[in-house]
Amino acid sequence: MKTLVILAHPHLDASRVNRRWKEELLNYPDEITLHELYHEYPTWTIDVSKEQALVEAYDHVIFQFPLYWYSYPPLLKKWFDDVFAYGWAYGSTGDKLKGKKMGLAMSIGDKKENYQPEGSVSFTVEEVIAPFKASLRHVGAEALPYFAVFGASFQASDEKIDQSAISYIDHLFRYKK
Ligand SMILES: Cc1cc2nc3c(=O)[nH]c(=O)nc-3n(C[C@H](O)[C@H](O)[C@H](O)COP(=O)(O)O)c2cc1C
Repeated sequence: MKTLVILAHPHLDASRVNRRWKEELLNYPDEITLHELYHEYPTWTIDVSKEQALVEAYDHVIFQFPLYWYSYPPLLKKWFDDVFAYGWAYGSTGDKLKGKKMGLAMSIGDKKENYQPEGSVSFTVEEVIAPFKASLRHVGAEALPYFAVFGASFQASDEKIDQSAISYIDHLFRYKK
């Protein structure tokens, strides 16, 4: 069973981390399907049936994005709003996501030490992603441990970004089974 990676970056051409991660994902065409939301839906009109059929075909789904305002980029939030629909994802007949393993892969601009109660962010990443975990609980899917690279700013070295791409792939395969 292949992994579906749903990538949401509003400016992938200007990206360093997510663009490098994408390059790495493309080295595994037999194991990973890449689905780029901003490329697929430039006008933000999401084809809900197509997206639902795509998700139904995978048991392992990763959402990859840069953390924006402690949340998803807006097209990914819209994707959840549109695709996780009543009668499909939840409700008495909505069981299509039950048992699927889903996770987040995030590039985060700020330093890791700031994502703690004493740090400048004052919230942990686990707290920041609580809406995702609550959503998965609501639809009966399993939330996998998240993957993140911190300090993903313009100052991050190429070496650090390359290393994060390798760690991302390791993480992705480790939690697949
Ligand atoms: C609109 C916007 C909002 C951002 N919000 C956050 C944030 O809430 N927390 C944080 O640590 N970094 C934040 N950042 C920094 C991004 O997470 C960082 O630039 C991105 O992960 C780098 O990945 P990339 O090279 O793939 O673009 C923000 C950046 C932008 C442009």
